[in-house]
Amino acid sequence: MTVITHSTTPFAGQKPGTSGLRKKVKVFQQPGYAENFIQAVFDVVQAAPGATLVIGGDGRYHNRAVIQQAIRMAAANGYGRVLVGRGGILSTPAASHVIRKHRASGGLILSASHNPGGPDEDFGIKYNGANGGPAPENVTEAIYARTLEIGRWLAVDTPDIDLDVLGTVEVAGLTVEVIDPVADWADLMESLFDFPAIRAAVAGGLSMAFDAMHAVTGPYAHEVLERRLGFPAGTVRNGTPLEDFGGHHPDPNLVHAKVLYDLMMDPEMAPAFGAASDGDGDRNLIIGKGIFITPSDSLAMLAANAHLAPGYAAGLKGIARSMPTSAAADRVAEALGIPGFETPTGWKFFGNLLDAGKATLCGEESAGTGSDHVREKDGLWAVLLWLNILAVRGISVADLAREHWEKFGRNYYARHDYEAIESARADALMAELTTALPTLPGKTFGPLTVASADSFSYSDPVDGSVSRNQGIRVLFEGGSRIVFRLSGTGTEGATLRVYLERYEPAGGHLDAGTPAMLADLVAAADGIAGIVRHTGRTAPDVVT
Ligand code: G1P
Ligand code: ZN
Repeated sequence: MTVITHSTTPFAGQKPGTSGLRKKVKVFQQPGYAENFIQAVFDVVQAAPGATLVIGGDGRYHNRAVIQQAIRMAAANGYGRVLVGRGGILSTPAASHVIRKHRASGGLILSASHNPGGPDEDFGIKYNGANGGPAPENVTEAIYARTLEIGRWLAVDTPDIDLDVLGTVEVAGLTVEVIDPVADWADLMESLFDFPAIRAAVAGGLSMAFDAMHAVTGPYAHEVLERRLGFPAGTVRNGTPLEDFGGHHPDPNLVHAKVLYDLMMDPEMAPAFGAASDGDGDRNLIIGKGIFITPSDSLAMLAANAHLAPGYAAGLKGIARSMPTSAAADRVAEALGIPGFETPTGWKFFGNLLDAGKATLCGEESAGTGSDHVREKDGLWAVLLWLNILAVRGISVADLAREHWEKFGRNYYARHDYEAIESARADALMAELTTALPTLPGKTFGPLTVASADSFSYSDPVDGSVSRNQGIRVLFEGGSRIVFRLSGTGTEGATLRVYLERYEPAGGHLDAGTPAMLADLVAAADGIAGIVRHTGRTAPDVVT
């Protein structure tokens, strides 16, 4: 085997604290760019000689090129085995499962999640460790530092392998197995959920529409929903992964999955259940006939009913939610007598809780829900847990939601995003807000009085590490709340996220429209942070 040492100049790789290196395809296409990052990963994680590495991505433009190069580099860096999904495909949750199941030392996941794909759009790479979860902060920091000093990358000089044929090939002493990207994950789902109950409900008329958004979940959904559960062909829409996702944003929200939303709101045409997932398959959108379920509510409703699925019949150990996610899940945790955790934004913070057996279910307001079955959020897993619950209970989504709110009260919720703001302006807004925090308590904004305000710090109950400046929380008397934070995943300027939450107790207004219920909070958000003054924007770009 001849290892070639390519010399390279350093560049700033993945910023610590973000979920992977995410840039425009054109940036990734610069000579040595992806190679620098991958070599920095290999240099930092120092896998044992002969270790197994998992490689797969969401199928977006540039996926195959980077995979071929990563294989040549894995061979040169002493890995013994690479497992790669056929066609270069592995959804993020499936990759997490493959790493765990096959005892790999880690994996490279190629995706820019819900960001658009294509020659002028986004690409990304991240590294997950042996537990199947995103590398922890100390590792991403070390990788970042390495990208700034790296002077060479190693590869063998071998031709591309055929990614479309299942089987094993040798690449300069490295065993590369092209695996079925779906089978392991689908078997895991079958072990967790009551497939016979769902099949019976489907035979009894339970209907659904699943929008794979031309992204990675198509093959997974075809296999599980149509082949294993018996939903009719056509249940899965846009089920063929495309390199540019058909020109759409593979982001399962009410803006980008509007076709599905409109279908679900049509009293004549709507099936009983609607769902969608994002570019790499970790996010989910849940819509019942005539009713959108917010991700925060979905987490709470799933937690309250999870025991109906065989995989969770023994009960939950705890429920974790990210800080900006509504407090709906906290009320369920309290009722179940189990701990509820509030973590910073980003799935990696759940990893320690899951590994330590402190939490079973986790969720984020940004449409991420999951459990201890893998170490990533899992879009289709959430869809299947919903289906399991609906099938066993023989109830509609709308009735289940109403019943839930009557028991626990309702957290009206929305997130307002202001995208591609000039970074300096966004920073000025946050800086001014941070300075004003001590002066806020007692101030009134319309009918709302500030009870407390702080910048969220998290101290990890497992390893004691502390993460500061994780968003500004403004709590009002009565339990309403506004959270302000800057996105860590955008690729253009800054994105300001404003999270609005109003709690209405059981017996209160449970059927009102969300915009009306949140109007006072929207006004207060501008009063507190000066959004219009700082950004010049009078309305958010996206409301979810
Ligand atoms: C966003 C979401 C966050 C999620 C992350 C990765 O991050 O808000 O919940 O974990 O994407 O999917 P943000 O852009 O807000 O930093
Ligand atoms: Zn994603």
